[in-house]
Amino acid sequence: MTDDATSTATRGDAIPTLGLGTWENTDPEACAGAVETALEMGYRHVDTAQAYGNEADVGRGIAAADVDREDVFLATKVWIDNLAHDDVLETTRESLERLGVDAVDLLYVHWPAGAYDPEDTLPAFQTLYDEGTIDRIGVSNFEPRHLDRAREVLDAPIAANQIEMHPLLQQDDLREYMAEMDIELVAYSPLARGAVFDVPEIRNVAEKHAVSEAQVSLAWLREKGAVPIPKATSEAHIRDNWESRDLELDDEDIAKIDAIEREKRQVDPSFGPWN
Ligand SMILES: NC(=O)c1ccc[n+]([C@@H]2O[C@H](COP(=O)([O-])OP(=O)(O)OC[C@H]3O[C@@H](n4cnc5c(N)ncnc54)[C@H](OP(=O)(O)O)[C@@H]3O)[C@@H](O)[C@H]2O)c1
Repeated sequence: MTDDATSTATRGDAIPTLGLGTWENTDPEACAGAVETALEMGYRHVDTAQAYGNEADVGRGIAAADVDREDVFLATKVWIDNLAHDDVLETTRESLERLGVDAVDLLYVHWPAGAYDPEDTLPAFQTLYDEGTIDRIGVSNFEPRHLDRAREVLDAPIAANQIEMHPLLQQDDLREYMAEMDIELVAYSPLARGAVFDVPEIRNVAEKHAVSEAQVSLAWLREKGAVPIPKATSEAHIRDNWESRDLELDDEDIAKIDAIEREKRQVDPSFGPWN
């Protein structure tokens, strides 16, 4: 087991290496229950967003868990309609209220789209950072040109870029670029929303180690230095994903997965910057 998944999250510490995603976990009890279950199992990183409509449920899950708030790394995202300067400030305060917390560990720009304008949006993130309302500034779905511009505007570092990554979208170029910039890669849809389960190479590695395909995908992401945030609702899935931390892939496994050339992006809205 690695220690960093249980460390106290404060500004400057590494982001806990496996998080719980919550997109489409819209049933209030199921969402709060998943967060509580995950935290009591050992997860220390929870990912939500204004757009998910579940910040209050995530907050209830955190409050119900027998884990101190300061030990939980909590991330949320400002939706694209709310990215004008004053809307960032106002809606972030609303998010904190729904979450039932005084501050979040990471606040992301959800997409470089809608009302996003680096000169207008990012100074509001900087203000929230300077006043301690957010411990880190993050961005999501940013390509190198967006990262470059944001770095010019912000005084604070960009702690993370949350992007889609899994064996069917390996993101080699962006990953290399982010490593050079010292920006952490948080991998969303790390199970390709279920699509990795049907990939023969992943099945083959899973059979070899007698583990699930989900675990193989998560262990491969860890090998690549990414922080995966699988969404899971049932205790069985939450546990299966957590146990990926014990899976060590060997060089042959990694080479086999690296060689998968079929690309399939799962999250592809018309406003995605690659469209
Ligand atoms: N920044 C962005 O634009 C963005 C975009 C997409 C996602 N995200 C974040 O990333 C998180 C994860 O991505 P995602 O929700 O798109 O997809 P995902 O984590 O790749 O896949 C989630 C699906 O896999 C199932 N599952 C989870 N663990 C499993 C296991 N061990 N065995 C079998 N099935 C399993 C879940 O089912 P159950 O729920 O039934 O357990 C759910 O149907 C999101 O929840 C969200 O927090 C961010």
